[in-house]
Amino acid sequence: MTTMHSDVPHAKRLGTAPAPDDLTAAERMSVDELRATQLERLQWTLRHAYENVPFYRRKFDEAGVHPDDCRELSDLAKFPCTTKHDLRDNYPFGMFAVPQEQVRRIHASSGTTGKPTVVGYTEQDIDTWATVMARSIYAAGGRPGHKVHVAYGYGLFTGGLGAHYGVEKLGCTAIPASGGMTARQVQIITDFRPEVIMVTPSYMLTLLDEFERQGLDPAKSSLRVGIFGAEPWTEQMRREIEQRMDLHAVDIYGLSEVMGPGVAQECVETKDGLHIWEDHFYPEVVDPVDGNVLAEGETGELLFTSLTKQAMPVIRYRTRDLTALRPGTARPAFRRMDKVTGRSDDMIILRGVNVFPTQIEEIVLATEGLAPHFQLKLTKKDRMDHLTVLVEVRHDTAAERRSGAAAEIAARIKDGVGISVGVEVLDPDTLERSMGKLRRVIDQRPPA
Ligand code: DLL
Repeated sequence: MTTMHSDVPHAKRLGTAPAPDDLTAAERMSVDELRATQLERLQWTLRHAYENVPFYRRKFDEAGVHPDDCRELSDLAKFPCTTKHDLRDNYPFGMFAVPQEQVRRIHASSGTTGKPTVVGYTEQDIDTWATVMARSIYAAGGRPGHKVHVAYGYGLFTGGLGAHYGVEKLGCTAIPASGGMTARQVQIITDFRPEVIMVTPSYMLTLLDEFERQGLDPAKSSLRVGIFGAEPWTEQMRREIEQRMDLHAVDIYGLSEVMGPGVAQECVETKDGLHIWEDHFYPEVVDPVDGNVLAEGETGELLFTSLTKQAMPVIRYRTRDLTALRPGTARPAFRRMDKVTGRSDDMIILRGVNVFPTQIEEIVLATEGLAPHFQLKLTKKDRMDHLTVLVEVRHDTAAERRSGAAAEIAARIKDGVGISVGVEVLDPDTLERSMGKLRRVIDQRPPA
């Protein structure tokens, strides 16, 4: 049996079936071998982008750099960064580096305003993606032969199809549930008995509530592993889900511009941050203000350069996600990234103090009597911004606890985050439930 390092109380056992060798060969590379592979692939990528994407040629020329200037990995820092704006300016297909007939698939991320960000994949890109996804599922504890319930949305969003191809590549059985129809999802899980679920952590909570609403004990379900990502979530949320579901909750990270899910994955045996599949995606962390590359262990903005992508190479793509790089553990050659606590765009600046929704999540989930659901409402009163935290009591919480919980949260936020907030404690099941990626912040301030 696989030995498990875990604080899951009654963690169901994982299987022992090995991963197909070709999927894991790269994971056994030494650091030196990996760096040599990365350099070769980086040089190819820079040339491929320069020769085939007018945008990159112009950007490199303006910056006075040429692909030949990249002689070692640290030379990458001389090259200009790419932003979401650049992708939007080249909407829809201007960033593609291959003729359209070679593009086998397109995905797009909706974005809240304006045009979507469009990405493309060749046949080989789709195979690479399936490979890193399969590695991710294996690292998470999924084994060939397992049934995997995929509740990430299928469609232009990369979550569903990205996960799906990895499930099949690993030799698992895909259950393409997609998002929504929550009651039916619970029925499918109960009847089909999958070992693994892939879903956003917030939608997992919605499913958990639905199990209970149907009178089922979620801890008795067949699920052993949950692969949760596409939005930030905290250690407190991991504990909440692991305890209520009796499964291993692990983190998966990715973004469509770089590939989709499966850029980095937390390993079930260590649960200590996400190993980046560095043979395909080269990470850097930079100071978000001046763009200088930061040392390992320092928190800043994560950048990725694709190393093997054909259809849409990205050079130093600014993710806006904040994290730090760390040395590898369970997969020694691959560096880890800290759990992403938020993206710079999700940051609320309240009277000069920076606040991430995950900071509030930690506090809400640590407060007795409250359900793990919350929303943040921003309003303006007397030309001042106000933040109200909306929370819900659990079904079994005593009525007297309500005012106590409100005061406790407000005090903890004041102490821990340094801001004064209003707190509204609501009845069970009143806050809107997540159906996929959750929006935590409702901004009701009049436009400036
Ligand atoms: O969310 C891809 C994905 C699907 C990842 C399913 C994991 C699972 P996008 O829609 O392009 O792609 O959004 C990417 O979501 O830049 C992060 O801000 C956020 N994000 C993704 N995974 C995590 C995570 C998919 N594990 C954006 N923790 C990224 C925190 C995450 N944030």
